[in-house]
Amino acid sequence: MIKKIRVEDLEIGMFVEDFNVPWMDHPFMTSKKKIRSAREIDQVRAHDIREVYINTDRGKDSARAVPLDEARAAVAEAFQREVVAAGTGPDPAPDPGPAGAVDPAFEAELVKARAVYDEAKGMVKGLLEDVRLGRSLDGERAVKTVDNMVDSIVRNQDALTSLTRLKSFDDYTFQHSLNVSVLTLALGRHLGILKDELRRLGIGAILHDLGKMRVPEEILNKPGRLTDEEFAVMKTHPLHGAKLLMDTDAVPDDSATVALNHHERFNGRGYPRGLEGMSIGKFGLISAIVDVYDAITSDRVYHRGMESHQALQKIYEWSKTDFYPVYVHKFVQCLGIYPVGSVVELDTGEVGVVCRQNRADLIRPVVRLVRDADGSLLGRPLDVDVSEPDPRGDKPFARTVQRTLDPGEAGFDAEAVLAPASRGKAA
Ligand SMILES: [Fe+2]
Repeated sequence: MIKKIRVEDLEIGMFVEDFNVPWMDHPFMTSKKKIRSAREIDQVRAHDIREVYINTDRGKDSARAVPLDEARAAVAEAFQREVVAAGTGPDPAPDPGPAGAVDPAFEAELVKARAVYDEAKGMVKGLLEDVRLGRSLDGERAVKTVDNMVDSIVRNQDALTSLTRLKSFDDYTFQHSLNVSVLTLALGRHLGILKDELRRLGIGAILHDLGKMRVPEEILNKPGRLTDEEFAVMKTHPLHGAKLLMDTDAVPDDSATVALNHHERFNGRGYPRGLEGMSIGKFGLISAIVDVYDAITSDRVYHRGMESHQALQKIYEWSKTDFYPVYVHKFVQCLGIYPVGSVVELDTGEVGVVCRQNRADLIRPVVRLVRDADGSLLGRPLDVDVSEPDPRGDKPFARTVQRTLDPGEAGFDAEAVLAPASRGKAA
């Protein structure tokens, strides 16, 4: 049986199933491991891992270990109470109009956002290649691209953000750079950061991993866990990145702090400098959350990405140690529990794509239905408000989101579903 245990209760002979930290942050070559020495327990503690999951069928048990289901339910309950039920607070976005209707600003922005996203994709790819090949950095092109992204996010946050859900993969580093910048801008805007500062934050975010181009490719793209020596080389990328940005005229100096501080952790256990708490700075605190969120929701050769709801809950769980909790709450409020673009299955059996957040109740978004309860494709997609009460009064709500589905497995193109032309009339 899988159980959760505090690190103080970890003993030799226990089998660790999951270290309960982002996969890139723990010291062992494999993510599952039998604890064989006191030194290994010390290593776990030294990485400030506070709780791990053990498998009692493959190693020692403990009376203080909590079964997985109970542990998950406790985190889910705390997440619901502390974050979800707290609502969104004042939203800097313009009023999106009456609840239940799809936000016209979202639809109008989606086409523009796609063009901005594609342009940014080409820019990031070219720029990373330039740095890899030792060519000088075209800072002005990056600044121009980020200006367009900021304008799109300010017009409507959800349009550009929804495109980060649809991960088409050829190269992780550039897709990650792009998605981190989009989500960082969304969070920054949600925090009330004004346009000029938002722009400086976005430039830093899109270039935050530039220093990775100074890491040898065999380490950067190694399809497995890094050795201690390789990890030490990898950990130099924030310093390389910050230097590259500081040396580029068109890039504002404080943009470089995103590259420098995105791996710092709130408890002081991050790198490269081990900064603690607010000394990490606003840009570093914001980008740290978004960087981990995008990493754990992305598929890699050796691990499958988590779906968003699960990832947000994990980030919340880690906010006790790694992240600034206030910004974690804001991030959840900004994305929503089911971010726009998520493919969801409802308790009615219907399947659709989340097309608008409900700022008053994060678990009840507006969903564009694509399949009916029998699994048949609808002739035209239909927008339904999941906060609508059940007309027959049999249950409080007519529909409730049951789970999210992998967009790749949904059997339809989620982005095409959100395109304005496909909208049907709500029943
Ligand atoms: Fe990084």
